[in-house]
Amino acid sequence: MTIRLLALSGSARSASHNLKLVKAMSAGATAAGATVTLIDWREFVLPVFNEDIEGETPAAAVRLKTLFAEAQGFLIAEPEYNGGYSALMKNAIDWLSRPLPGAPVGSVFKNKTVVIAGATTGKWGAVRSMRQLREVLGYLGCIVLPDTLSVNEAGKAFDADGKLLDVKTAELAAAAGAALARVTAALSRS
Ligand SMILES: Cc1cc2nc3c(=O)[nH]c(=O)nc-3n(C[C@H](O)[C@H](O)[C@H](O)COP(=O)(O)O)c2cc1C
Repeated sequence: MTIRLLALSGSARSASHNLKLVKAMSAGATAAGATVTLIDWREFVLPVFNEDIEGETPAAAVRLKTLFAEAQGFLIAEPEYNGGYSALMKNAIDWLSRPLPGAPVGSVFKNKTVVIAGATTGKWGAVRSMRQLREVLGYLGCIVLPDTLSVNEAGKAFDADGKLLDVKTAELAAAAGAALARVTAALSRS
């Protein structure tokens, strides 16, 4: 059975280092036999969640929740903003955690596998934001793999084609993606 994974950068920035990183992870997952769908946030622009506007559920939230429901696991590369993970990611999680008319019923997180990496231009490579995101996704019932990867000084880490320059780091990114594919496949057989 083919494993279906979603790949997400926690940044919608067009030149996002985390987008490049999650693509490197996705390559590893694909090589391990998974089918990976990369989320393009331009197709999923969501208003800031507020229970007052739940009655006007955005179509983008329904489409995103459907993709999450269909996926068995998530590859995430998360930036760090002011010592925390991104508002984009938190807002998406809040929308996805709600019952949305027209979207599949039930949790899209419970018992789903996740691997979290992170890239920042600073010295600490998203260690704080990754820890926080791990806690929140664990709270929602995700199985968050111990595999992780921190890329610091991300402005110098990628070439003009968006590939990781350091061979060892590229191997680790691919290995994180492959680990998610393998663990998800093993769990789907159990
Ligand atoms: C408002 C703001 C706050 C930031 N705070 C942090 C931070 O706390 N720690 C850090 O390492 N980098 C921080 N950065 C730098 C980001 O990690 C950097 O811009 C990163 O490249 C963003 O991810 P992206 O390339 O995927 O868009 C901050 C950047 C912005 C714009």
